[in-house]
Amino acid sequence: MQFKFFAKTGVKLSALCLGAMTLGREADEKESFKILDRFTEAGGNFIDTADVYGKGRSEEIIGSWLKGKKRDELVIATKVRFSTGHGLNDIGLSRKHILSGIDESLKRLKTDYVDLYQIHAWDNFTDIEETLSSLDYLVRIGKVRYIGASNLKAWQIQKAIDLSKNNNWEKFTCLQSLYNLLERGIELEIADVINNENLAFIPWSPLRGGWLSGKFKRGMKKPPEKTRIEIAGEKGWSESWEAYDNERTWNVIDELLEVSKIIGKTTAQTAINWLVQKPFVTSPIIGARNIEQLNINLDATDWSLGKELSERRDRASDIKFPYYPYSENYKEKYLRN
Ligand SMILES: NC(=O)c1ccc[n+]([C@@H]2O[C@H](COP(=O)([O-])OP(=O)(O)OC[C@H]3O[C@@H](n4cnc5c(N)ncnc54)[C@H](OP(=O)(O)O)[C@@H]3O)[C@@H](O)[C@H]2O)c1
Repeated sequence: MQFKFFAKTGVKLSALCLGAMTLGREADEKESFKILDRFTEAGGNFIDTADVYGKGRSEEIIGSWLKGKKRDELVIATKVRFSTGHGLNDIGLSRKHILSGIDESLKRLKTDYVDLYQIHAWDNFTDIEETLSSLDYLVRIGKVRYIGASNLKAWQIQKAIDLSKNNNWEKFTCLQSLYNLLERGIELEIADVINNENLAFIPWSPLRGGWLSGKFKRGMKKPPEKTRIEIAGEKGWSESWEAYDNERTWNVIDELLEVSKIIGKTTAQTAINWLVQKPFVTSPIIGARNIEQLNINLDATDWSLGKELSERRDRASDIKFPYYPYSENYKEKYLRN
């Protein structure tokens, strides 16, 4: 597998990151170990988890699997922000929760540092200065190598980075956002922040939870049984059938199926490859519930569709921003060359 630089840090990451949200949730421990083994045998070194995945099981499984492995060869990312218990303060980005959160994650992961510690989302109830200075402290005492953010708006990322620079605190190296052929909202403003601030960018849900995996086809009246999308509705997850059963989704899927057939790849591979080919994407975070899915997804890098098919794949999902100051019209009129 090819490697990418982790922003300007000099650290090398595999071109695919293994998402560990399925570990301990859709995949039991035995299958999870197989997934972790296969990913690292294929050259993967980058794993993304969170304190809340499987209520801590994902981190625990990685910790058990790490025994006897060369920890330093891996880049392990986790997150803090969402509720980890019933206590009043077991949530948020306060100094209190961050400092206990990292210790709990390190315990479950059975390691003494994480490579990337990410805030899972914004916290309206904590001053961002408190959050950033707490994260800076964790870097200084060696529990964390780099810090990152997830699910932030453009102004929030920029504000946090500017505050860190002005206070000589460690600043975000990496952004993790939802980005795939069905969700391209980050192209509005966030992609500019990524480029201007030289951030690493690791998109989550490259198949939108399974929608782009090839098992969904126009004309279906409900999701296939026992899939993530079937249970998403009742669990209140954002990738539900109700949220995506619309004409735009089916157009994107139609085109993805066609293009994949022509190139001789699966739709999952072609959808992940769309991200791999984007210059501002560092490593898409791939998801798999079993070893078969992982094997398919691993073959999404190191090849290209070529210009014509790439344009077809892109066009079906393209979104236009009609409003000032984001419209093409405005850009043409006012952008200096
Ligand atoms: N920061 C955040 O807020 C956030 C949120 C979500 C995820 N993430 C990160 O992103 C990672 C990936 O997210 P994701 O799991 O949603 O990724 P995804 O690739 O969009 O969806 C994974 C699901 O798609 C299906 N699938 C995957 N590969 C397949 C294949 N080759 N053939 C058929 N079906 C396939 C499986 O579900 P079925 O078999 O059930 O269909 C699998 O569980 C997570 O592990 C996590 O690390 C972060």
